Amino acid sequence: MNNRRILLASRPRGAPTPENFSSEDAPVPQPGEGEVLLQTLYLSLDPYMRGRMDDGPSYAAPVPVGGVMEGGTVCKVVESHNPKFAAGEIVLAHTGWQSFAISDGKGLRKLDPTLAPVSTALGVLGMPGFTAYTGLLTIGDPKPGETVVVAAAAGPVGATVGQIAKIKGARAVGIAGGADKCAYLRDELGFDAAIDHRAQDFPEQLKAACPKGIDVYFENVGGAVFSAVQPLLNNFARIPLCGLIANYNATALPPGPDRSVRLMRDILIKRLTVRGFIVSDFFEQMPAFLRDVPAWMAEGRVKYREDVVEGLDKAPKAFIGLLEGRNFGKLLVKVSD
Ligand SMILES: NC(=O)c1ccc[n+]([C@@H]2O[C@H](COP(=O)([O-])OP(=O)(O)OC[C@H]3O[C@@H](n4cnc5c(N)ncnc54)[C@H](OP(=O)(O)O)[C@@H]3O)[C@@H](O)[C@H]2O)c1
Repeated sequence: MNNRRILLASRPRGAPTPENFSSEDAPVPQPGEGEVLLQTLYLSLDPYMRGRMDDGPSYAAPVPVGGVMEGGTVCKVVESHNPKFAAGEIVLAHTGWQSFAISDGKGLRKLDPTLAPVSTALGVLGMPGFTAYTGLLTIGDPKPGETVVVAAAAGPVGATVGQIAKIKGARAVGIAGGADKCAYLRDELGFDAAIDHRAQDFPEQLKAACPKGIDVYFENVGGAVFSAVQPLLNNFARIPLCGLIANYNATALPPGPDRSVRLMRDILIKRLTVRGFIVSDFFEQMPAFLRDVPAWMAEGRVKYREDVVEGLDKAPKAFIGLLEGRNFGKLLVKVSD
């Protein structure tokens, strides 16, 4: 047995390519006193990893060139020298793109496979679901009858945002790429409308889907999607600014004209609330999240979809595809059984 690892080979300029990654087989590490050996079952692939490939200033340190790519994982404890963990237990960890890792136990959360499939701890019941819950309820604060719009709506953050908006009595409008994702949002998740951002007349379709304007825009994307949303924002609209995936591969500002003046004017005259957040800002809400979302799932009011790729070696290609909208649901790599 070897420890298969995917490393950052070089920093991308623009969209990442397979050449930005390399792989190696290292010996399986041996746990010392107080440590556990973890075997990765699932690796989560998330948009934030694009930021970790760059070395510019950000809220978190970059992955060093030659280092193991960072990532959340669901792991099995295969050997334990830590009294808090027993071999065979399943834990939520952050051990990155590798098949084995050592942990001293700090930051591990035990998962109960009888409560939910353990993979959900990386999606609807994990960081992305928590992002949706905290950002929507704390910053968006949707009221019954209001219109909530969310982009990247077929992904784990957006899908959860729309379904919680419905639970709160709001009208949910999703924006996603392609007819299949839009049909899924409407027919399976109960969104009131779903619009394809690739359609020629996307701004007109969005306007028609929001006849009373937009009260909450949960921003996951930026770019052309935000340009279509901005004129529809109502007075006192709230914008939880969660992500800007349309820009993650950008190497320069888009060509002019400078639209920041119009944006700042809208913020002023419409009295908009725009608040950026990182999910860790709301850590104290974790107990409420772990109480509410499983209950809503049990009632069939929150559903989820996973897009599972088999084998760690497929992670780079799958991650590149995530940035292009090729995933359909929470993107996971099944690393071992
Ligand atoms: N602030 C935080 O703490 C925090 C935490 C978690 C996630 N996030 C952010 O939340 C957003 C969604 O994350 P997720 O994990 O749920 O990802 P996801 O939806 O599974 O994947 C990203 C999706 O973004 C869409 N997309 C990519 N480029 C686009 C473009 N140019 N225009 C419109 N849509 C585009 C694609 O879907 P389509 O096929 O629909 O275009 C793609 O599938 C990301 O921006 C992420 O960075 C922030």
